[in-house]
Amino acid sequence: MHHFTYRGGELYAEDLPIRELVSSYGTPLYVYSQATFERHFTAFDSAFASIPHLTCYSVKACSNTHILRLLGKLGAGMDIVSGGELYRALRAGIAPSKIVYSGVGKTRTEIHQALEAGILMFNVESRGELERINEVAHQTGHTANVSLRINPDVDPQTHPYISTGLKENKFGLDLEQSYEAYMRALEMPAIVPMGIDCHIGSQLTSLSPFIEAVERVLAFRERLCKAGLCINYLDLGGGLGIPYDQEEPPHPEEFGSVLTKMLAGLDITLILEPGRVIAGNAGILVTKVQYTKKTASKEFVIVDAAMNDLIRPSLYQSHHNVAEVTPMGRPEHTVDIVGPICESGDFLARNRIMPAVEQRELLAIFSAGAYGFTMSSQYNSRPRAAEVLVSGQHANLIRRRETYEDLIGPEESLP
Ligand code: LLP
Repeated sequence: MHHFTYRGGELYAEDLPIRELVSSYGTPLYVYSQATFERHFTAFDSAFASIPHLTCYSVKACSNTHILRLLGKLGAGMDIVSGGELYRALRAGIAPSKIVYSGVGKTRTEIHQALEAGILMFNVESRGELERINEVAHQTGHTANVSLRINPDVDPQTHPYISTGLKENKFGLDLEQSYEAYMRALEMPAIVPMGIDCHIGSQLTSLSPFIEAVERVLAFRERLCKAGLCINYLDLGGGLGIPYDQEEPPHPEEFGSVLTKMLAGLDITLILEPGRVIAGNAGILVTKVQYTKKTASKEFVIVDAAMNDLIRPSLYQSHHNVAEVTPMGRPEHTVDIVGPICESGDFLARNRIMPAVEQRELLAIFSAGAYGFTMSSQYNSRPRAAEVLVSGQHANLIRRRETYEDLIGPEESLP
């Protein structure tokens, strides 16, 4: 459910016509709906209302500080994976005690920054990392709360690039290694083993992999408890999918009710790290048609957004619905919607059946709120797009369009 709807023959973001936003801010333009963010966060968070829990929004999905601030006001904590994300979360006023830090490659500097900030806990992904956190914490007079990220070897049935809970993936530790690492953690002066973490993948459209993972994690928790280590925090990561096309992922309420039942009666605080389910359908990318072009075998719609703005179709062959901002009712054609970048991999949709469009018309690419702007780049020296957050009839520019100066700024004044 989102707040991008057609009224009087044109697309609106909440109560503002997209056409007006484009005349103020240009294209390509990321447009977010505040009411959609609020609705998604509240629906997700309230699904766990009956158990102790903390919803830590996964910053990587859409990391604009204005969005983080908005979610923080609704009670969200944050799941971060870098010093940069820590910086964003703190700048957005998120309490450090609501921040969890995941990721396989934390540097000494990043660990130190997180310890100084006083985050809730580190999700540790290797023995080496555990040793390093202990060392840095010890040297700097801190203690570090940690969860070990266990890799439960469950198939999340999603795109291979975003599967993380299989034994061939780089993430986490298998159960045996985890057990040994917990025992080692008990001997470390600056480590408090406080939780168990597990994130099996992203864009999951069924609950069964989650259930399987939780069963394994709970059995493992029992084993630790028998060895004298009783763990009270369980971090289940993110991963709940969204409808991009025909998918029918479980509703957060269903997700919540299944997990709530599984954890009933256990002394556990649940941490969740949703990203896509909060942000995905809260944002669209608006682009302007530059040219249409027919070759012997194909019809192309060349737009002013490209793989540098939204890489998901190129990288994962993912589907995003594309529609006219002002539908003209022309007959349908099969087209490739492509950008100006010099690669055949630069497409936003392929073999898409949609009404014919003409130069200067606007298209909306839906479900672009998660992993859209955050994965964008300046490839082909294209300044990154602007981001605007709409609430009712108000539009708030939350990131200005980059300029050519932004492209070369970091290269200037160097010998
Ligand atoms: N927690 C951890 C440790 C993660 O690695 C991720 C996502 C999340 C939470 C949030 O997962 P979500 O709820 O959004 O599924 N760029 C890809 C998605 C990569 C996901 C990476 N990790 C895409 O565009 O589909």
